[in-house]
Amino acid sequence: MKLTETKTKRTWLWLIKNMWPYMKPVLGRVFLGVLVAVPVGLLEGVTAFVLKPYLDYVVNQKDLAFTVWGNDITLTAAAMAYAIPLAVVVFAALQGVLRYLNEYLTDWTSQKMTNSVKIALFNRLVSMDTALFDDNDSGAIFFRYFNDADAASTSLISNLKTLITSAFGAVSLVFVLLYNSWRLALVGITVLALAFIPVYLIRKRVKKTSNRNMVIGSSIVTNFHETTSGNRIMRSYGLEQQRRDIFRQQVHDAFNNNMSLVKRAAWMSPLMYLIASVGIAIVLGYGTSLIGAGKMSVGGFSSFVTSLLLLYKPVKTIGTTLTNLQNVLAAAGRVFELFDIKPEITDIPEAVEMDGLKQGIEFQDVSFSYRPDVPVLRHLNLSIKKNEMLALVGNSGGGKSTVANLLPRFYDVVSGNILFDGRDIRSYTLKSLRANISMVFQDNFLFSGTIRENIMMGNPSATEEDLRLAVESAHLEELAADLPQGLDTPIAEGGKSLSGGQRQRVAIARAMIKNAPIVVLDEATSALDNKSEGIVQKALDNLMKNRTVIVIAHRLSTIKNADRIAVLNEGELAELGTHDELMAIENGQYRQLYEMQFQQQKAAGEDGEDTGAVAAETYASAELPENTAIPEITGVQENESTGKESTDGITE
Ligand SMILES: Nc1ncnc2c1ncn2[C@@H]1O[C@H](COP(=O)(O)OP(=O)(O)OP(=O)(O)O)[C@@H](O)[C@H]1O
Ligand SMILES: [Mg+2]
Repeated sequence: MKLTETKTKRTWLWLIKNMWPYMKPVLGRVFLGVLVAVPVGLLEGVTAFVLKPYLDYVVNQKDLAFTVWGNDITLTAAAMAYAIPLAVVVFAALQGVLRYLNEYLTDWTSQKMTNSVKIALFNRLVSMDTALFDDNDSGAIFFRYFNDADAASTSLISNLKTLITSAFGAVSLVFVLLYNSWRLALVGITVLALAFIPVYLIRKRVKKTSNRNMVIGSSIVTNFHETTSGNRIMRSYGLEQQRRDIFRQQVHDAFNNNMSLVKRAAWMSPLMYLIASVGIAIVLGYGTSLIGAGKMSVGGFSSFVTSLLLLYKPVKTIGTTLTNLQNVLAAAGRVFELFDIKPEITDIPEAVEMDGLKQGIEFQDVSFSYRPDVPVLRHLNLSIKKNEMLALVGNSGGGKSTVANLLPRFYDVVSGNILFDGRDIRSYTLKSLRANISMVFQDNFLFSGTIRENIMMGNPSATEEDLRLAVESAHLEELAADLPQGLDTPIAEGGKSLSGGQRQRVAIARAMIKNAPIVVLDEATSALDNKSEGIVQKALDNLMKNRTVIVIAHRLSTIKNADRIAVLNEGELAELGTHDELMAIENGQYRQLYEMQFQQQKAAGEDGEDTGAVAAETYASAELPENTAIPEITGVQENESTGKESTDGITE
């Protein structure tokens, strides 16, 4: 599943529908925020409004007489000289308080909503299919799950707030215009309305830029990620300049993309100014004639012109806000698309709990491919008895790790079945299935935190004694004793501050403490020195004791301990049997691999080098001999009495 630019056209109704679950819990405050935004906007008109009485009465020294519900009221010019400026200040203060409240409420609600969206997205992220992470760069995922969520909800609310305040500001100013002269207002408003045309025209361009920005932003994040986590490779291969160039190009692309929008959008503002000034020019001429005809007072005219000038700002803000909201719509489109991605690997409705392994594991005619048309496993048939240890060997890229990935359902088989105790693994709950498998991977990932925390992740409810045992079995005591804070020593992200062997042993301890009946071990191919190999092997032996084990083996020591060995060549099971049985096959693949490794080990041993290391490397990189006669497997018969399978079926 590749995350791509969104093409679908989104409507506001769609956005509200999707936002609703996140808006509902904070709806009260959203409403209150909107409600407060209304008077904040309406109070915009006060100053312009009171200009008319001030100029017509205070400046002209005239008293104002009017009737309210039959009572005659007279406001003297002297009283108004104090009252009007005071009113201006009081209303400004009131507007200030309301503005504060509005700001607080909208920020509060928008952050709450953004948090809920982000939490919901993260909840999705952790249960996404492994394939999503194969198919997308880390940057693309990060950008979608983080930046876009912000853009979608935080700026939605803040722009809505601005929109409402500006709209009501405009309404109150328009009211002042109409109050002073409807004829003049008609001219002013018509001209200002024309200012919206460019905003409308630019919509599509904004969306395109936003989507493109997302793509560029994602690749920048990926670049950062690669430059930090791949730092050593970058340095050792002298790739600094290449990284710099890539980054420069990305920043340049972002610049071009933004500028292409600016080129098309920057004329909007001057155009709006121009339109507005044309409006003012017309108003000035027409207004003068209205005053001459006695249809308007000088105070009314000043009030009118003031509100028309003031009106420019909210109208312009409405324009930019509507543009911003296009951005929001685009970001929201990308965010809510993520919710539409449903993980394919899920529990079936009638899934049962898996409670330990009682009989064994069986691969029945299993075929698998990561991508259509590129088969990785072909018709694999294999059964593993309870507490048996099966070693998987074979050419690099032959599908060994893939076999390991299928057991906890990181991927589902394309055809065939994998059975635990005669039941398809897809009929167990994912949670219980995975709880029954301990995995140690080829590249062991450790989380930022302490060594203790990393081990305890295997079983958060383990006791101190369990931990001690796991540490002991994984041969970590020595390491813990050497470190200043022992097990509580923080390890850098990914476990970078530990050696390869140490990292592997922490992973073994983590698998150990999990205490699952099935152990899947993808042995690291990295070379270990003799001593480390010995320690790691001992740790592994402890982990594998009394458990059903599938070990992807690269080292002689592991292979020798296995009950049976399966040779996987280009996704097909080529040989299966005990070490002795496979060695007995003339020209057998296993035998050739073994002899090649053994000779190298011997040669290295004579040179006084680390034999284990060389052996491990040799096996890891060994390709199977081209023209090997592959023995046909006619059937693997089970032998109940020994708990092992005889391999009589293998013919030469
Ligand atoms: N996530 C993936 N997406 C697409 N193809 C993949 C993926 N993982 C592995 N492959 C391909 O599947 C094939 C089998 O890979 P796998 O990792 O199972 O090999 P392997 O036997 O474990 O090799 P090695 O001994 O080098 O670890 C390879 O051709 C590999 O390129
Ligand atoms: Mg592998």
